[in-house]
Amino acid sequence: MSPFHLTSILPEDAMAAALRADVLHGLTSDPKTLPPKWFYDAHGSELFEQITELPEYYPTRAEREILITRADEIAASMPARTLIELGSGSSEKTRYLIDALTDLHTYIPVDVSDSALTQAGQALVAERPGLNVHALIADFTARLTLPDTPGPRLLAFLGGTIGNLLPAERATFLGRVRALLSPGDALLLGTDLVKDERVLVRAYDDAAGVTAAFNKNVLAVVNRELGADFDLDAFEHVALWDPGNEWIEMRLRSRTAQTVKVPALDLAVYFAAGEELRTEVSAKFRKEGVSAELAAAGLELTRWWTDGEGRFALSLSVAR
Ligand SMILES: C[S@@+](CC[C@H](N)C(=O)[O-])C[C@H]1O[C@@H](n2cnc3c(N)ncnc32)[C@H](O)[C@@H]1O
Repeated sequence: MSPFHLTSILPEDAMAAALRADVLHGLTSDPKTLPPKWFYDAHGSELFEQITELPEYYPTRAEREILITRADEIAASMPARTLIELGSGSSEKTRYLIDALTDLHTYIPVDVSDSALTQAGQALVAERPGLNVHALIADFTARLTLPDTPGPRLLAFLGGTIGNLLPAERATFLGRVRALLSPGDALLLGTDLVKDERVLVRAYDDAAGVTAAFNKNVLAVVNRELGADFDLDAFEHVALWDPGNEWIEMRLRSRTAQTVKVPALDLAVYFAAGEELRTEVSAKFRKEGVSAELAAAGLELTRWWTDGEGRFALSLSVAR
């Protein structure tokens, strides 16, 4: 079997400190917010995998369709020896890319979820003899230091996860991505596209309630890690389309007036009846916008593929 390394560049106390800082800031802001990275403990990662199989959640199927049909073209455009993937999760769709990249030496999946990284990494080294897998537990919004591996490098950011960043955060993020690449290296970016509001809202508010459970999982994480007493049943899952910003927002609406205690922060947080806590934005894109944001970071969009129904796009951009 080929080597599998799991390295954490986020020591446990740094993760704990980041959670405390985010919860303190988010629950004392007006309106209240929590960042989406805290959905993904082992249970949250498992719930996300269930979401990807829901009939309403088209992005995974659409992106998989593009990867199945275009992986050879992507590999021909960028015959990478190192594939880095940010927010890799289960690495399920990435397998099409790994198979097409015939000179691939090392795969570096980066995620905050150690359970997802361990499962995916162990499966990959068993399935792909000869492939080095160097998994990194890290926050992709921070400045990353990657292991020294052979170029050229292809950095993949799939699943439309870039839409979880606000516009200013995306600009910083893309600048940091560019700094990880040498001239000629490339970024493969998955972006969900603007479409009919009903299709979008359904994708984030499924009939089976899996997305609702995923959304509320962030409260369970705060309960477990910071001793808080959130009653998950006292909050209602909300998904809505913001046409001005062209993004979906997921929120948790307090069903009643209530006070939640967070002992680790010595904090009591009052929620009015109907008050909403924002837990995720998921921006939807148009080609011109993606191209402009990439260009601002020194990345030139060279290829743009969509699925047959034009719901989702994968773009390849080259570092200049
Ligand atoms: C929407 S899921 C997409 C997973 C996979 N790429 C796909 O396309 O199905 C987002 C992934 O990014 C990870 N993630 C979210 N925020 C992160 C952050 N700030 N740093 C590192 N990983 C993060 C989550 O653990 C999860 O695996």
